[in-house]
Amino acid sequence: MLHSVLGLVVTVVAVCSADVCRLPSHLWCSSRKTAEDCQVTQQCSAHDWRHQAAAPPVNLVLYYETLCPYCKQFITDQLYPTHVKLDSDILNITVLPFGNAEEKQEGNKWIFTCQHGRSECEGNLIATCALKTTSFNSTAYLPFLNCMEAAAHEHVIWFAVLKNCAVRNHVSEADIRSCMKSDAGNELEHEMGVATKKEGVEYVPWIVINGQHTNATQQEAQDDLLKLICKTYTGPKPQACTSTLTTDLSVSYKHPQ
Ligand SMILES: *[C@@H]1O[C@H](CO)[C@@H](O)[C@H](O)[C@H]1NC(C)=O
Ligand SMILES: *[C@@H]1O[C@H](CO)[C@@H](O)[C@H](O)[C@H]1NC(C)=O
Ligand SMILES: *[C@@H]1O[C@H](CO)[C@@H](O)[C@H](O)[C@H]1NC(C)=O
Repeated sequence: MLHSVLGLVVTVVAVCSADVCRLPSHLWCSSRKTAEDCQVTQQCSAHDWRHQAAAPPVNLVLYYETLCPYCKQFITDQLYPTHVKLDSDILNITVLPFGNAEEKQEGNKWIFTCQHGRSECEGNLIATCALKTTSFNSTAYLPFLNCMEAAAHEHVIWFAVLKNCAVRNHVSEADIRSCMKSDAGNELEHEMGVATKKEGVEYVPWIVINGQHTNATQQEAQDDLLKLICKTYTGPKPQACTSTLTTDLSVSYKHPQ
């Protein structure tokens, strides 16, 4: 007797919630309410809703210079790995290679003076020309800029780095070279300078999230960019937000005796 009463209760409950799920299953993700009723919210978030413009992307603007050690570290340890994990409809990246440089006009040319010397100015121009060559498409230029920064050091031979990084990342070395010699390239580097001054950059890397820079978000971005972007993004969290960037331990082991 008790058994059949329980059976009846269970049946009634099942029928009630199944009611909204009479819709064909491909419509279960059509609204949050339906998804909840059909208990498929998690599945809808992971698949169907992933590519909907459910929320605007997080806008990140990076002001940097090519030979600053913390810029190198941020690009190779945080920015590039995070870009690889998140779609561009979640993280929208813009970079401006200029940093703490200065400029002055001579004739119809801009002459740049860089914090880490002439080599840095050359690197900044290569990076700026890579942006132009890829029509400012971050998915196309970021692998190249990451490759450049991975190789960046005080005595870097940019000529060799440009060649190697261009071929490995499907960016045209010839286009970058001709941009570097052109008035358009010189003008674009100047525009990077104008935008950098306008932003009021105090140090580099200088990271702006959704139009705002604070020392606190700067710190969070440099410590764990993926975590910061996931926290800031208002849409359904993508799969990558449940993982963390894995980096090798920064240690050196004792040689066995
Ligand atoms: C991406 O960032 C650029 C430059 O900051 C901005 O102009 C553009 O509107 C942003 N895209 C979206 C979808 O927010
Ligand atoms: C950006 O570049 C990537 C990689 O080269 C390419 O797959 C994608 O179609 C480009 N996006 C646009 C809007 O051109
Ligand atoms: C941000 O940090 C810089 C460098 O440590 C410091 O000079 C500056 O005063 C800080 N700004 C604020 C508003 O705390």
